[in-house]
Amino acid sequence: MSEISERIVADLLFARTGQQLTEARRWRIQTALAGLFRERGIANIDQLVCMLAEPRESGLAQDVVEALLNNETYFFRDRLMFDLLAREVLPDLAAKRADTKRLAIWSAGCSTGQEALSLAMLFADQPERWAGWKVDILGTDISGKAVAAARRGVYSQFEIQRGLGVTQMLRWFDEGAHGWTPHAELSRRVRFDRRNVLDEPPHPGRFDLVLCRNVLLYFERANRMRAFDHLARATADDGWLMIGAGETASGQTTAFAPACDTSGLYRRIAPDTAPQPAWPERASAG
Ligand SMILES: C[S@@+](CC[C@H](N)C(=O)[O-])C[C@H]1O[C@@H](n2cnc3c(N)ncnc32)[C@H](O)[C@@H]1O
Repeated sequence: MSEISERIVADLLFARTGQQLTEARRWRIQTALAGLFRERGIANIDQLVCMLAEPRESGLAQDVVEALLNNETYFFRDRLMFDLLAREVLPDLAAKRADTKRLAIWSAGCSTGQEALSLAMLFADQPERWAGWKVDILGTDISGKAVAAARRGVYSQFEIQRGLGVTQMLRWFDEGAHGWTPHAELSRRVRFDRRNVLDEPPHPGRFDLVLCRNVLLYFERANRMRAFDHLARATADDGWLMIGAGETASGQTTAFAPACDTSGLYRRIAPDTAPQPAWPERASAG
């Protein structure tokens, strides 16, 4: 029975988020749901599956999905990628948008906000260069809990130390009774929304830079291609895409071309110059 119940729970996660829990990764279920089981007094996964069928437990399915999502993140995760943004991407965008002095950036799958705030720090660290610019950083995630935490913007001692040196921590964050909060210099540039990357993208063509790092890893091929399609439609024709250091866009989309030897950074190929892909049947996001 437990095996069937595990498959039902994995199917629920897939239907709501596109994230796949293959049999090899099903061991995660017990660990990830342990807190929820304790909170709700649920004895085991079989009981959970029975409860999911009860109409009065309508919020339970979402709690299960939230618990199964991997929200791992930290400030300046894979710092070399942020160095690349500072060295290659931002100077390119500064030149291209010199007339409007406006930049829009989308962090898709932003978890609890550290990625968006790391981006904001790249701008705040160069006040003279970015004086007079309007920089909007939109962080989105499918997890309501992660988005709520990102909006709250209060980081524990453990979270603030992950990826930030003491100088940066003291320069851009204040310590309060409940944790560390970003200065207005950072928070005025970021906002957060709940959104599934498999749904229609926000503001088509508007984003100069899109980050979608460590999100596509557990999508199966059809959903990964669908997500790339959405990321492409959100990106300006001369914009940039950054995915995770261990991820690749090659073979999944013709809308982006590798920008350099470093994996993870791509340039948008304008739609009229990109060869048309043979898209597979689109899978449902649930
Ligand atoms: C491992 S975290 C990565 C966070 C950040 N991008 C980073 O690299 O540090 C993956 C995030 O993707 C989110 N996610 C998973 N499936 C998603 C989907 N279909 N749409 C939007 N976000 C999703 C998860 O909730 C989680 O917060």
